[in-house]
Amino acid sequence: MSEKERNDAKKGENKDKPGHGKRILLRTFGCQMNERDSELIAGMLLEKGYELVDTPEKAEVVLFNTCSVRQHAEDRVVGNLEKLVSRKKKEPDLKIGVLGCMAKRHGELLLKEFPHLDIVVGASNIYNIPELLEQTFTHQKVIAVNNIKRPVKGPNPVYRAGSFSAFVNIMYGCNNFCSYCIVPHVRGREVSRPKKDILKEIKALADRGFKEVTLLGQNVNSYGRGLSQKIDFPELLEAANKIKGIERIRFVTSHPKDAGKSLFRAMRDLDKVCEHIHLPLQSGSNKILDLMNRKYTAEDYRARIDLLREMLPGAGVTTDIIVGFPSEGEKDQNDTRKAMEEIGCNSAFIFKYSPRPPAISSCLVDNIPEEVKKERNKELLDIQRKISHAKNKEMIDSVQEVLAEGKSRMSDKELVGKTRNNISCVFPGDSDLVGQLVLVRVKSVSPHTLKGELVEKDNE
Ligand code: 5AD
Ligand code: SF4
Repeated sequence: MSEKERNDAKKGENKDKPGHGKRILLRTFGCQMNERDSELIAGMLLEKGYELVDTPEKAEVVLFNTCSVRQHAEDRVVGNLEKLVSRKKKEPDLKIGVLGCMAKRHGELLLKEFPHLDIVVGASNIYNIPELLEQTFTHQKVIAVNNIKRPVKGPNPVYRAGSFSAFVNIMYGCNNFCSYCIVPHVRGREVSRPKKDILKEIKALADRGFKEVTLLGQNVNSYGRGLSQKIDFPELLEAANKIKGIERIRFVTSHPKDAGKSLFRAMRDLDKVCEHIHLPLQSGSNKILDLMNRKYTAEDYRARIDLLREMLPGAGVTTDIIVGFPSEGEKDQNDTRKAMEEIGCNSAFIFKYSPRPPAISSCLVDNIPEEVKKERNKELLDIQRKISHAKNKEMIDSVQEVLAEGKSRMSDKELVGKTRNNISCVFPGDSDLVGQLVLVRVKSVSPHTLKGELVEKDNE
């Protein structure tokens, strides 16, 4: 039975459950953690008899699972909330909620500033959402933002948004306190899930036909700290690699101070672990890295990537960069440009700095004008485009294993998927290949995509 059929079949039963078949729109902002959290929330609510819809107009409950990492992300949520003011006046029974990082960051203030809000729940209180939502139906406003750590055990509903690739949390929170970052303040202290719970979840996914899992943590390299069983991240990868049916294992995010030889060895030696690492550099200037409290230098970062490439040629490396951090001068921007050129990542997300109180860098004057941030952002995007293009060109004529994810945006007759080293690849193919691993010979490339054609498996 498909997920949709399962949902439909449940409709009849829902009338006696607390959700009473009420229609919910759950919109997600932000990162993969939030996507997974929304899937979990959706799963818990479906089990309580709610139904999911995809537009606010159809919904009796509108929930926003929010992101606070940059001001822009919060502004988008505020825009969406404001759009619901007049509707709430006409339909007082409409329930509106803010969940996740913004809920934790602003707490009570949200209820004051947006009186049409009914429910505010932080990410560490996620498992209470069904019970809290129910309380709103007796016309109470509810708020739960008090947990500092997320409980490692909680409901684990069967619902999954996809059918062949899934996110699996391995840890929650972060203890690094990079000076610009709101995450430790809103997602709380780092806590690892026990190995057996993670493996059980992956095995259950494999039994349902899932082929790819992405292990999620703010800093996966510190997995295992604080657990009674002695285990580290490479050992977790080794155990996950043994699960039959799973064919690809990915992981995000790594921290350059912790990602080293034992991780690279696992990436090289474990057949299911994909040859890709997302390793945020943040800046190429040692002065700025120090102010960011990143605990490595640009030289350390480069040495790690050199080692990775020596051990695993062809590994994909992606990164994040922040421009316009307080006091960043032309020399710092040059250092970042130089580091990007020397390291040569396959792709990079470039962000304009935004102060996030109570993150500590918000005590520094945000003294780089928006115009300069924009220019620096553009300069680095242009450089990265060239680097990505050159890297992709190196892959022309190679044969890549691709997991077909769906139709390409450009054409109905083409599919798109990711190579093992995490590069998007488009190729002609029928939709019955979606969810399958195929081989593709790369014929041409653009800065962000490979284009190729299918190769018969036995011809290789
Ligand atoms: N301003 C701009 N970018 C930020 N990031 C995190 N905090 C900020 C901030 N205050 C970026 C970092 C991180 C990514 C997820 O978001 O590059 O790696
Ligand atoms: Fe934020 Fe740094 Fe933790 Fe990443 S490692 S979530 S950037 S504090």
